[in-house]
Amino acid sequence: MTEQKTTFADQKRKTVETAEFTEDGRYKRKVRSFVLRTGRLSEYQRQMMNDNWADFGLDYQNQHFDFEQIYGNKNPVVLEIGFGMGKSLVEMAAQNPDKNYLGIEVHTPGVGACLAYALEKDVKNLRVMCHDATEVLRDCIGAGTLGGLQLFFPDPWHKAKHHKRRIVQPHFVETVTQKLQVGGFIHFATDWENYAESMLDVLQSVQSAVGIRNTSASNDYIPRPDFRPLTKFEQRGHKLGHGVWDLYFIKE
Ligand SMILES: C[S@@+](CC[C@H](N)C(=O)[O-])C[C@H]1O[C@@H](n2cnc3c(N)ncnc32)[C@H](O)[C@@H]1O
Repeated sequence: MTEQKTTFADQKRKTVETAEFTEDGRYKRKVRSFVLRTGRLSEYQRQMMNDNWADFGLDYQNQHFDFEQIYGNKNPVVLEIGFGMGKSLVEMAAQNPDKNYLGIEVHTPGVGACLAYALEKDVKNLRVMCHDATEVLRDCIGAGTLGGLQLFFPDPWHKAKHHKRRIVQPHFVETVTQKLQVGGFIHFATDWENYAESMLDVLQSVQSAVGIRNTSASNDYIPRPDFRPLTKFEQRGHKLGHGVWDLYFIKE
């Protein structure tokens, strides 16, 4: 029997909306950290994805990933949530061949662009997913299996009534920490001061319970690190005159 290859079209048939139900069987509406934007894949991106999804794409599954089998080595796995068009993620993967990268993004054209750029750069230590990262974290990632989690310029949800949609919440940090190896890192960056303050509050509120330590000398933010490539949203923030706040915690 010939082996069936999964294409990106197959994976898109599985809906991004993973329905959840209350105990008495009612549909539970989830507060999501994103709004699915429309956007077209270029013909080139579509072709690249269909031809290469089996090698570079990972599908959501209701069981933990076996990273050693996926990457073919035991290098630490760094998870990036919301990579946008993926340029900075591909650059990091190319600069750090001793690490494995897993990028998750819900915006399909972004996933296509990232995959096309990874192929152009001949990057082998990167896999991408197109799914809600909070569900991937919960269901596909085993405890103590991540070397790091990076979240760069997440949607800031400016209005107070939308703050509940911000991805950085105590429960999110608790879940992330549970998935990290000892010594693993949490790296957040934002160009929105109110979100930076909220991220710091959240991290500080759970840090002793979950066992993470702030690496900042002033116990708040770190200077912008050179190893983080400039992202598209960071560049946009610069043009708008925004500052940048980086937070870097280690699991003890
Ligand atoms: C403001 S953009 C920043 C993109 C990129 N990190 C940058 O700095 O250019 C935030 C991205 O996060 C993605 N996103 C938001 N919530 C997500 C989730 N729960 N799972 C996966 N991607 C998510 C959005 O689709 C969007 O592309």
